[in-house]
Amino acid sequence: SPQKPLAGRRVLVTSGPTHEPIDPVRYLANRSSGRQGHAIAAAAAEAGAEVTLISGPVAIADPKGVTIVRVETAREMLAAVEAALPADLAVFAAAVGDWRPAQDSTSKIKKDGAAVPPLSLVENPDILATIAKRSEGRPKLVVGFAAETDSVIAHARAKIARKGCDLLVANDVSAEGGVMGGTANTIHLLDRDGGLETWPTLDKDEVGRRLVERFAARLAP
Ligand code: C5P
Repeated sequence: SPQKPLAGRRVLVTSGPTHEPIDPVRYLANRSSGRQGHAIAAAAAEAGAEVTLISGPVAIADPKGVTIVRVETAREMLAAVEAALPADLAVFAAAVGDWRPAQDSTSKIKKDGAAVPPLSLVENPDILATIAKRSEGRPKLVVGFAAETDSVIAHARAKIARKGCDLLVANDVSAEGGVMGGTANTIHLLDRDGGLETWPTLDKDEVGRRLVERFAARLAP
């Protein structure tokens, strides 16, 4: 029905940051609040979808009517995403840590002696690219995000091709905008065929609702 444009659809959304452990008390993280991803999950549920929200550690409320899977690390998030498939629509809004500490010490690293401990990093799996490039069981519509601080559109165009997603939501997260962690968002919506829309600054809940309308239109037969 026009009221429930995602009725009968399975939707998977990733949201929030990841925490990448250094030792039992320390981790690497980022400023993602999870607000945009959670808003998309809520809007998809509102639109009638069966939604699984895979969230890193966040301090905001759980959206209503969705199944929540809580994870900490990028590797846990990838495993949770694979477990939640199949889906018609997958939206990768999480700010996944690109790197994790090469060693996750099982005991707290002590501040003894003069030496500062080295922190070497290794690359995390790219969850979006892994799912978007699957030959079997790929969701019909795969949506990525791009948080950029400069040349937002140019970087977004390159990213949509590199990651293999169908749509990309790009936003400027340079510190002046206050997007990262804030309640408003100014986005560009790009598709693989070169389509580009620039939206006015809107509340993240409203961005979520409008994005879900677009996703539903793309999935419509
Ligand atoms: O390359 P970049 O991190 O800017 O790409 C952002 C997009 O890729 C987002 O949709 C994000 O959720 C996804 N991503 C991911 N796994 C990673 C890194 C990014 O799914 N390890």
